[in-house]
Amino acid sequence: MSDISRILTPDVEDEVEVAVDRSLRPHTLDEYIGQRELKANLAILLGAARQRGDAADHVLLHGPPGLGKTTLATIIARELGANIRYASGPAIERAGDLAAILTSLDERDVLFIDEIHRLNRAVEEILYPAMEDFALDVMIGKGPSARSLRLSLKPFTIVGATTRAGRISSPLRDRFGATYRLDFYDVADLRAIVERSARLLGVELSPDGATAIARRGRGTPRVVNRLLRRVRDYAQINGDGRVDAATAEIALAALEIDDEGLDGTDRKLLAAIIQKFGSGPVGVQALAAVLAEEPETVEDVYEPFLLRLGFLDRTPQGRIATDGARAHLARLGYEVPAARRGELEQPALWDGSTQDGAGSRAASDPNALDN
Ligand code: ADE
Repeated sequence: MSDISRILTPDVEDEVEVAVDRSLRPHTLDEYIGQRELKANLAILLGAARQRGDAADHVLLHGPPGLGKTTLATIIARELGANIRYASGPAIERAGDLAAILTSLDERDVLFIDEIHRLNRAVEEILYPAMEDFALDVMIGKGPSARSLRLSLKPFTIVGATTRAGRISSPLRDRFGATYRLDFYDVADLRAIVERSARLLGVELSPDGATAIARRGRGTPRVVNRLLRRVRDYAQINGDGRVDAATAEIALAALEIDDEGLDGTDRKLLAAIIQKFGSGPVGVQALAAVLAEEPETVEDVYEPFLLRLGFLDRTPQGRIATDGARAHLARLGYEVPAARRGELEQPALWDGSTQDGAGSRAASDPNALDN
């Protein structure tokens, strides 16, 4: 069995999937659905740069995976009539690697750096004068006779992407002329995206079929496009290839995607907090260990949508599964023991006379799930 529990992972590993995913991407800002405010601001930035004939200001895009950062970078280059080079923070290991890329750029080209928060220090320091002054400072020689030589670069635009704006050093962040945050897409936008993709793939998709897929798409275009392909496969094998709401719902249920769009890993994460840690608070390290994932993956890939759904809270003490999450899992038949947080709130500062008040009430409240 393929790892269906991770079908929703916005990371794309399979080569065919990558190719199909790329073929569905919009090529111009006009074709791009959603992120209206970002699009409006970006259109002005690009229009103005184009009119002046200058390289556009450096642009930083941040937000959860799968929301269109790479797509937007490609659109930026196209709208500028420029070439684009793709690089990623961890892949640029040495200062010389970045220097080689920068010196190969033509005037007004775009350099996309994915996961820019993972650039190492030496590489990042090459980037500062490059972004600010289009200059490359190279050291010639070693020891006492070493000299710094400044080479000029052709004006270019860096488009940096990160899932974590907070992880970028402030000197680097300050060198971006524009910073845009990508948000999860609403169901109406996802429906428009999945309808566009169905047209491109030649899939007959009814309006209610599009809604059924969009509602389970985790606010993420890459996810709805992947769900569309799986539902299409199902409809082809089990029906006449047409996708309506009933087909979509059966196909997605078979893939263990629930009506909130959560997959097996999402539910495992919530179930761990609820069943193993009394609904929280629990630290991300402990959660990551239960899921056999890196804490960073839990924070960047799984948590953002659960936070957005209101199923998870991040507190200084750790993660908490909300009453909404508890109700959702209870509805799906999971065992949902009493939350421990009532006990933690036991007001130690109060005098002993109220000791059996707030603390035990939440823990024993039979209606706790309805709150
Ligand atoms: N395909 C993936 N993302 C898209 C978007 N934002 N607009 C249109 N089609 C898309």
